[in-house]
Amino acid sequence: MRQIFIAGNWKMNKTLAEAKAFAEELKAKMPETEHALAVMAPFTDLPLLTVALAGTGIGVGAQNVHFEESGAYTGEISPLMLRELGVSYCIVGHSERRTYFAETDDTVNRKLLALHAAGIRPIVCVGESLEIREAGNAMSFVAGQIAAAFEGLTPEQAAETVIAYEPIWAIGTGKTATPEQAEEMCGFIRGMMEGLYDEVVAEKIIIQYGGSMKPSNAGDLLAKPNIDGGLIGGASLKVDDLLAILEAAPKQA
Ligand code: 13P
Repeated sequence: MRQIFIAGNWKMNKTLAEAKAFAEELKAKMPETEHALAVMAPFTDLPLLTVALAGTGIGVGAQNVHFEESGAYTGEISPLMLRELGVSYCIVGHSERRTYFAETDDTVNRKLLALHAAGIRPIVCVGESLEIREAGNAMSFVAGQIAAAFEGLTPEQAAETVIAYEPIWAIGTGKTATPEQAEEMCGFIRGMMEGLYDEVVAEKIIIQYGGSMKPSNAGDLLAKPNIDGGLIGGASLKVDDLLAILEAAPKQA
C-alpha cells in the first residue's frame, strides 16, 4: 500500500527566525505517525531546516531548482547544491512558477531529469485553469503536462516521482476541488502512468492533491483511493494546521 505523504509548501513565506521557531514547535508536537511529512521551504531556510529536522523523519524540500549542474545562470541554484544541503525533495512546475516565471513543460522535464540524477525526489505539479476546466478540457490538458514532464524518465525514476494535482482555480482561493473531482483526476493520472509505463509504476507512484486543503476537508480528500497525500500552501504555515491535516489522513490497515 502507498504511504500517505503530506507536504507543506511555504511559498515565499518565513524568515530564518520564523523557520527556526516552526521547526522547534513541529519537533515538539510531532506525533507518532505511519505517514510521511515534509516541508518545502525558501532556499534561505534550507540549511537551517535540514539541520534542525535531521533525525526526525520529517523531510525538507526546495520549491525550485535549475537543471544545469553549474554555470553562468545568475540567481539560480543547482540540484547538486541542494543535495549537499541534505535536501530530499524539490517541487517542480508549480503553477505559480509556470505563470509568473515562464516555467514550461520543457524546463519541467529537464528539472525532473536533473533532480533524479542528483538523487533528489521531485514533486511535479500539474493542473488546469478554471477556463480550461469549464471548456471540458481539464483531462487532456493535464495529460499533456504529464506526458511532457515524464519524457525520457525510466520506470524507476517515474515511480520515485511524486505528482501533485493542483487545479489552479483551487489554489489560495479557498475553493477546494470536491473529493470526487480530485479523485477523478488523480485516478486519470494513475491510469496515464500505467499507459506510459506499466501497472507497477502506476501502483507505486504517489499522487497528491493540492489546492485549499485544510484540516476540515483533508480527511474526505485523503480517504479517496487515488489521492495519496496533499501539497499544502496556506495551511502549512501553522504547525497545528499542518499536523491536523496529517492526523486527518486515514490510518492504513
Ligand atoms: P493553498 O493550499 O494555499 O491553496 O496552496 C496550494 C498550493 O499551491 C500548494 O503548492
